[in-house]
Amino acid sequence: MDRRRFFSYSAGLAAALQAGSLRAQSAVASVGGRPADTVARDEDFWFNIRHDFTVDRNMINLNNGGVSPAPKIVMDTEIRYLEIENLNPSYYMWNVLDPGVETVRRRLAQMFGVDTEEIAITRNASEANEIIQLGMHLNPGDEVITTNQDYPRMITTWQQRERREGIKLKQLKFPVPPPSMDYLAKMFEDAITPRTKVIHICHITNRTGQIFPVKKISQMARARGIETIVDGAHAFAQFPFTHADLDCDYYGTSLHKWVLAPIGTGMLYVKKDKIPKIWPMYAAPPEMNDNIRKFEEIGTHPASQRNAITEALNFHDSIGGERKAERFRYLRKRWSNQLRQLPGVKILNSEDPEQSCAIGFISVDGLDAPKLSEYLWKKYRIWTVAIVTPGEYQGLRITPNVYTTLEEIDTFTNVMERVIKSGSIPA
Ligand SMILES: Cc1ncc(COP(=O)(O)O)c(C=O)c1O
Repeated sequence: MDRRRFFSYSAGLAAALQAGSLRAQSAVASVGGRPADTVARDEDFWFNIRHDFTVDRNMINLNNGGVSPAPKIVMDTEIRYLEIENLNPSYYMWNVLDPGVETVRRRLAQMFGVDTEEIAITRNASEANEIIQLGMHLNPGDEVITTNQDYPRMITTWQQRERREGIKLKQLKFPVPPPSMDYLAKMFEDAITPRTKVIHICHITNRTGQIFPVKKISQMARARGIETIVDGAHAFAQFPFTHADLDCDYYGTSLHKWVLAPIGTGMLYVKKDKIPKIWPMYAAPPEMNDNIRKFEEIGTHPASQRNAITEALNFHDSIGGERKAERFRYLRKRWSNQLRQLPGVKILNSEDPEQSCAIGFISVDGLDAPKLSEYLWKKYRIWTVAIVTPGEYQGLRITPNVYTTLEEIDTFTNVMERVIKSGSIPA
């Protein structure tokens, strides 16, 4: 390759590497002050966003709730950091990259509307939640109230404390969708006893996507001397809010779901005055007792994933939280409004925008959800997840993403319509 061709090739490559961010930039430039619910229907805008991802275009991924792909610009950043830290990890990782985590902390705190000293970076929501669940002091007989639709791993964590220390876990059941937000708040209030020390709730459930009245429950609990742990694994960056909208004591979330950050990233919020009394899962020295960083004393771990979180936050900001939430609601309604007309179909997510966003849930009388999910995958490469709450309901959870196209949503809808009308899942 001669010199000129080499340079033009390199410039092309550099441009291709930058293409991810340029797409988002040009999408945002086209918004021109239009409201979020209008942009939600602007396919040119979302087309540009879609091209910021290197996802497999030959499958329809409607299980972004499990874990999300990161945009190319986030992946590129992560890989760049990985290559840098591997040059000499004990120098580049610990001296050059690790200090960058303080920027990540500041940006996450800004987005959540709290003090930087209240944010710890974790590897996922499970770690964030378990730091609190296992780190708070409880006496035998003390009660924790949660629901049977909270995340199984979080329930397992409390159950381990039941076996080990004799605490008591109470799991409340509620209909989906529930009659109202007030119904959910009252359900918790009615379940409180003099032994209740903790209320543990999902901000939005991972099953039918029910959003909880977190602020109402937190304030009601605080007035009774009870602490609230909020599992926000699915909420952060799915729809906009800050801590002021929740007023909870503890908040754990994944960043590899709706923030679109690298896989293996999460965040923990602990109210400042509660930090000293929570024991970290991995031991920290007494000098760190009041320091939120005591929850990050996990030993050697890569800086590349953590440090790339900032790029994901930039990407999120460039789309805009409100636009993203409106797009999700639009996509959910597009398939669910068509399918709900059919016999035997129950849409189990709430239709109230205060109580629902990206996560939709469809149950079809007489159709086995795991078999239906398998059929969609094997025959049409439509990737969904079947959820069964024994004795209560079963169905498919549908979670699109910012890169999902209308063609993909309509393909899912039309296949479902055919199957539902036929009354059985083809062999
Ligand atoms: C409600 C809820 N909590 C916790 C988790 C655990 O998240 P992670 O896998 O990031 O630890 C999930 C994962 O799907 C979830 O949906």
